Amino acid sequence: MARSWGRLLARIVGYGFLVVLVLAALAITFTVGWRPVIGAKKRALTSRTFEATAARLQRGDYLVHAVMHCMGCHSKYDGKANPPVLAAKEGSGQVLFEEGNIRLVAPNITSDLETGIGKWSDDAIARAIREGIAADGSTLFPVMPYEHFRDLSDEDLASIVVFLRSLPAAESNLPPNKIPFLFARLIQAAPKPVIEPVAEPDRSTPAKYGAYLVKMATCSDCHTPLNPKFQPIPGLAMAGGNPMGEGLNSANITPDASGIGYYDEALFVQTMRTGSVRARSLKPIMLWWVFRNMTDDDLKAIFAYLRTLKPVHHLVDNTEKPTLCKLCGQKHGLGDRN
Ligand code: HEC
Ligand code: HEC
Repeated sequence: MARSWGRLLARIVGYGFLVVLVLAALAITFTVGWRPVIGAKKRALTSRTFEATAARLQRGDYLVHAVMHCMGCHSKYDGKANPPVLAAKEGSGQVLFEEGNIRLVAPNITSDLETGIGKWSDDAIARAIREGIAADGSTLFPVMPYEHFRDLSDEDLASIVVFLRSLPAAESNLPPNKIPFLFARLIQAAPKPVIEPVAEPDRSTPAKYGAYLVKMATCSDCHTPLNPKFQPIPGLAMAGGNPMGEGLNSANITPDASGIGYYDEALFVQTMRTGSVRARSLKPIMLWWVFRNMTDDDLKAIFAYLRTLKPVHHLVDNTEKPTLCKLCGQKHGLGDRN
């Protein structure tokens, strides 16, 4: 069932970048244990509040708009413009996809009292972002990347909550989710409470801080290929090939010659800023139009981290005709040469 749902989603090309995130989210459906029966792990809400300081507002704005791409899901974009431009009030949510009996909605995360999260406590918003539990105690579908956001530092989390509260409240009436019963049960395995403090990320070297940024930017969700059980294929971390709709596959971003071994730091920064690798332009499914808002230092930190990855030989070329690849099991350009 999970696979046929995956195939169904893979047809919904209009939502290209979500398809892969949904597939990644489904990985958990094969490692479930008892949670589908007894319900998700969750903690009780506390009365903590986050003081709205100018530093937090600025940091939250940066994380939301440059690194964690919250608004790619929680806002409507003009699907034709490249780079995409906002088509409605920021944060007011959208139906991410709808087909047959399935509908997945990214909710309104502005402070509107009726249709947004204006009535949620600070801790309820914090718990949703890092632990995947909504204010009413229900489990969020893990397309919301809380499995990555779990490692967000306490201070960065506070900054995001402060920033969300500063968004102009926007009313938006979105329809409810329609999640098939089996999936509604299976996703109960995803949430994990965060009970210990989460320290600031290690900034002692660019590569270490880069690892944190890469996690928060969810690069691996698109760049690490999955096996038919939606588990990351061992040995292919960040080696690309994930199908992203319209004959497009994610790139190998390991330092191998078949990956981005030929990049230097300047080319990497330029690619992320412009969405073009020299003359070759990248589709907006690659969220360069978000990541280009990062500082030079943060982009360089990401590049430093990518340089520490194990080089993986895996040719992927979106300018060539797709052929079956025995390494990642997908069809992509130069697949038959692997
Ligand atoms: C890949 C898409 C995606 C990204 C990126 C994303 N979200 Fe979500 N988010 C969702 C979806 C889908 C839901 C609803 C899940 C459900 O209803 O089961 C959700 C739910 C939420 C909720 C709970 C709201 C409610 O009414 O239930 C909050 C708060 C939230 N997201 C905040 C954020 C923030 C802040 C970020 C960035 C740091 C972010 N999200 C990034 C897709 C996304
Ligand atoms: C939502 C999916 C998605 C996410 C998230 C994502 N990428 Fe990509 N990325 C892609 C796809 C798809 C391509 C290929 C685009 C094309 O060929 O038009 C790509 C291409 C690239 C390229 C170009 C490689 C080349 O020379 O062909 C680089 C570099 C890259 N991504 C780095 C990153 C980094 C670093 C992150 C995290 C900060 C990231 N990507 C996050 C989907 C994604």
